[in-house]
Amino acid sequence: MCGIIGYVGKRNSVPYIIDGLKKLEYRGYDSAGISILQEGKLVTVRAVGKVAELEKAALQLSPKGTTGLGHTRWATHGKPSEENSHPHTDCSGEIVVVHNGIIENYLMLREQLISLGHLFKSETDTEVIAHLIEENLKHVRAASDEDRLLKAVQKTNKEISGAFAYGVMWARTPGLLVGVKNQSPLVVGVGKDESFLASDVPAFLQHTNRVLFLEEGEMALLRAGKVTVLDKTGTPKKVRPVKISWDRQTAEKGGYAHFMLKEIYDQPQAIEDTLRTARTDFGKILGMDTAALRALRQVHIIACGTAYHAGLVGKYYLEQFAGIPVTVDLASEYKYRTVPHKVKTLAIAISQSGETADTIGAINKAKEFGFHTLAICNVLGSTLTRVCDRTFFTHCGPEISVASTKAFTSQITAMYALAVSLGKANGNLSKSAFDAAYRDLMQLSKAMGETVKLEYTVRHLTRKIYKADKFIFLGRHVNFPIALEGALKLKEVSYRSAEGFAAGEIKHGPISIIEKGTPVFMLMPQDGLFEKMLSACQECRARGAFVVALTTPGAEKAAKSVADQVIQIPQTNDLLQPVLNVVPLQFLAYWIAKRLGCDIDQPRNLAKSVTVE
Ligand code: F6R
Repeated sequence: MCGIIGYVGKRNSVPYIIDGLKKLEYRGYDSAGISILQEGKLVTVRAVGKVAELEKAALQLSPKGTTGLGHTRWATHGKPSEENSHPHTDCSGEIVVVHNGIIENYLMLREQLISLGHLFKSETDTEVIAHLIEENLKHVRAASDEDRLLKAVQKTNKEISGAFAYGVMWARTPGLLVGVKNQSPLVVGVGKDESFLASDVPAFLQHTNRVLFLEEGEMALLRAGKVTVLDKTGTPKKVRPVKISWDRQTAEKGGYAHFMLKEIYDQPQAIEDTLRTARTDFGKILGMDTAALRALRQVHIIACGTAYHAGLVGKYYLEQFAGIPVTVDLASEYKYRTVPHKVKTLAIAISQSGETADTIGAINKAKEFGFHTLAICNVLGSTLTRVCDRTFFTHCGPEISVASTKAFTSQITAMYALAVSLGKANGNLSKSAFDAAYRDLMQLSKAMGETVKLEYTVRHLTRKIYKADKFIFLGRHVNFPIALEGALKLKEVSYRSAEGFAAGEIKHGPISIIEKGTPVFMLMPQDGLFEKMLSACQECRARGAFVVALTTPGAEKAAKSVADQVIQIPQTNDLLQPVLNVVPLQFLAYWIAKRLGCDIDQPRNLAKSVTVE
């Protein structure tokens, strides 16, 4: 976790860095810091809390300089405190380092460095990088200080292990920043007379949209408007910046009070953008020929959190359309269970960020078995997309809110597109069934446009129930994962207790937690299981629950007879319905959190991408 930003150019770097940190706050926000090279000396300001606290502290000291680094932290080694905040320095105070990831052998290195006389000031793993560079500088020979620094950093990279991305600045090499990427995200922005180093593109997008994506093991030397990339072997490599089409506004709130709300409203467009891939690139998504597709015997889906719920929905799609058995695993579990791997398998990793350590670990295991691997991912250039054989980019734009919304519906949409294309290719789906499934998919964005109009209804409903101390969500079949997702969303942003169950299961235990007034949300579109959901409503109501039925046109009357409130959701086909059904639950989480005064975009204890295991 953590966010890194660096600036080198012709202007004062401080506003660029503070602004970049604000854009990276979703990656961690327990403390932050900056170091600026001011007239040959490094000036460092650090503060516990959000970037706003750092900004206040920086204003007092008002450092100025054209080269600087900044960091926003999500603690892994050492509690959130000023001493543990980045940037970290060596003994001389001339070298500063900002880092994202984990240095696995830091304890051993720390002991070695201490025995060599280095003094440590923090509990972090990061500080060993600064001291190691200092130590290595003593031993490398080169014509210039810039080359010495480069060699010392290269030597350091050989000595540290783990997943890391870091930026280095040395007081003796003004106008130079060094960036290193190894299994943690790091991108470079190339502007006119200025260059940026960051964990993610939105950190500098308002200044340049020309981006260099570093490969694993690569380094970048950043000077004002000029960047040299060195490959794993240290050889300069020719790379052209990619032009990112996300504009500044896309990456910002667009007038909404919170990113979460904006991103819920982004969903019609997000689905449209996800499907653009499906329209133009359908056959090529998997990169397998027909014979290979027909030979597939099973699919393993791997993901975490919300993306896992998208995977659970995807299982129904693949089994229905492609007729292939599917398992869905939490990535953190897949990595440690015995996985039978003798048959031809496609492993699909679903991840918004593409940087989730558990998911990357699990897909690497799948690769070791020789499985064909596909990422369903939103972030261009992310680690997962480099690890997998192929990627289906959801293209739903940056998701800044920690609580995932539009990425989720885009992931389900992608799974559906994939499943019908697979079904067509392996002969499981007739032409007419494919055409019908495809037609519904192409109407989905429009239906989503209607569904987001439910905000007012949901907002009104939350007035009655927001003080409840627990919430229950029930669904069956494809809507069971939506019950899980509704509960997760509410927990994340409102800190209320919420649980999702398969509706048929409540009588086997969970019904005992229902008390008078407990809000129970029933996902009950008019499908083959509607009658069964009606019974579940009655069972809950008989125990005093406040039942809210989420249903589709035509079923309202029956739903009204068993529920305290009915929310009518636009209708699509039964299998796509979850994409729409989750929307009122996203609004529900948002409005309950808002009424409770919670920090919606950055809920406590969470970070947007979980890059540690
Ligand atoms: C929930 C949420 C998390 C993520 C999970 C996986 O709102 O955001 O549960 O879904 O950490 O993240 P990605 O999709 O980036 O792999």
